[in-house]
Order: sequence, then C-alpha cells, then structure tokens
Amino acid sequence: MARGIRVILLGPPGAGKGTQAKLLQDEFGVCQISTGDILRKAVSEQTPLGKRASEFITRGALVPDAVILDLVAERLKEEDCAQGFILDGFPRTIPQAEGLEGILKAKDLVVDRVLSVRVPHKVIVERLAGRRTCKSCAALCHVVFDPPKKPGICDRCGGELYQREDDREETIAARLQVYDTQTAPLENYYRERGLLSEIDGVGKVDEIRSRVSRALGDVTR
Ligand code: AP5
Repeated sequence: MARGIRVILLGPPGAGKGTQAKLLQDEFGVCQISTGDILRKAVSEQTPLGKRASEFITRGALVPDAVILDLVAERLKEEDCAQGFILDGFPRTIPQAEGLEGILKAKDLVVDRVLSVRVPHKVIVERLAGRRTCKSCAALCHVVFDPPKKPGICDRCGGELYQREDDREETIAARLQVYDTQTAPLENYYRERGLLSEIDGVGKVDEIRSRVSRALGDVTR
C-alpha cells in the first residue's frame, strides 16, 4: 500500500498545480487541499467567507492570511487528511508558510517536500485561457490540450464546465504579479530548509507527472 505523503505544490497561476495535485491525491490516497477551490465553493454558496473572499479573487489579489490559515487549519482536522495531504495554492506568503509550520508542529508533523512547478508566462496564458472547471466536482480540463468528450460537460461526473472569472486576461496579469512579489519568495524559504525541488512544468501532463515522481522518489520509498 502506498504511504501517506505531505507535499506542497508551489507555482504561478496555470502552472498545473491543480492537475498534478489531483493525480497525487488519487495515487497516494491523501487529501488535496486547494484553497482556491475552497474559496470558490464558498463564493458560489454565498457563505460569509465567500462574500469576504469574492472581491479579492475577482481582482486577482490574495485573501488575507488569517482567513486562509483558519480555513486550512480546519480542513487539516478532517479524516481524509489523516494519512497526509497535497497543498495546492497554499501557502502563498511567508506568514502563511510560518502559520502552516505552527499548525503542523502542534500535530508533530512536518512537510516532506515542496515542489515548485515552473512555466513561462506565455504558456500560462494559453493554459488559463482554455481552462474549464467542473461546477460539481472541480475536475479540470482544457479546450485544446485536454478537451472533454462532450463540450461543456465534465468527463468525470457529468457536471457543467465553466470558465473561471479570474481567468480573464487583465486578472491573469494581476495574479502573475502577485505571484512574483508575494509567493515567489517562498522558494527561498523552502530552499533554505532543504525541502525545495524545482519541476519543469512545460510538456504533457504525464511527462510532468514523471518529473514529480522523480522529485518525490526518496519521500515515497
Ligand atoms: P487558485 O485557485 O489557487 O489559483 P492559482 O494558484 O492562480 O492557480 P490555478 O488554479 O489558476 O492554476 P494551477 O496551477 O492549479 O493550474 P491547473 O492545474 O488548473 O487561487 C485563485 C484565487 O483564490 C487567488 O488569486 C486568490 O485570490 C485566492 N487564493 C487561493 N489560495 C489563496 C491563498 N493561499 N492565500 C490567499 N489567497 C488565495 O492548469 C491550468 C490549465 O492548464 C487547465 O486547463 C489544465 O487542464 C491545463 N494543463 C495543466 N497541465 C498541463 C500540461 N502539462 N499541458 C497542457 N495543459 C495543461
């Protein structure tokens, strides 16, 4: 039986974090925590969290650290996270990384590996422009690179596919800038702790999956 793993996926918008996180979740039977998915669900259900987060997401800005840390701390208590987790889109700032360390320390846990997925801006824009997400199960596809069998319908659950509001060109530019200024410094933070592996994110999904496997080699053995 595969052992649990505790992995962080870093990378700019559209790098393929969500795509790879879902593959790792299926393989290792651990939970995938996408703070973006949790926030979008809250927005669509118009919960107090969703109402608060909505204006940040629409502008491509980050939701305040304290809000994010509370929601991750709660999510990590759920049963499906007992064997490990794949964090996708979290942490995104140094205070979030420090907060995560505190949450894990209280449980006597550490992160096994941080994978930084690197993709040039031109590829990011192509990926985000064609991305479609399932309204029901949050599965991902792409109108050109991974088209659904029936247009507009999720292959996995039959749900309706939609285009994210923050995948508009001007919002993508804002998100990239936020990544460069607020999230990219996390690479050094984790490099200094000996946890960082860089992954070339250009290529087919399976090729990147193989690079991820190689980078996780000693963690999964
Ligand atoms: P979030 O949902 O986390 O978005 P993101 O980090 O910008 O990342 P994306 O989901 O856009 O991209 P991805 O890397 O997962 O790529 P994907 O696999 O989908 O955050 C959204 C917003 O929520 C933030 O802007 C912020 O406001 C807020 N937020 C979230 N977390 C927060 C936090 N921790 N703190 C504060 N605020 C937070 O792939 C993209 C497309 O490419 C897909 O169509 C896919 O099918 C395709 N694709 C993937 N891999 C390949 C490949 N190898 N070849 C061809 N196509 C591919």
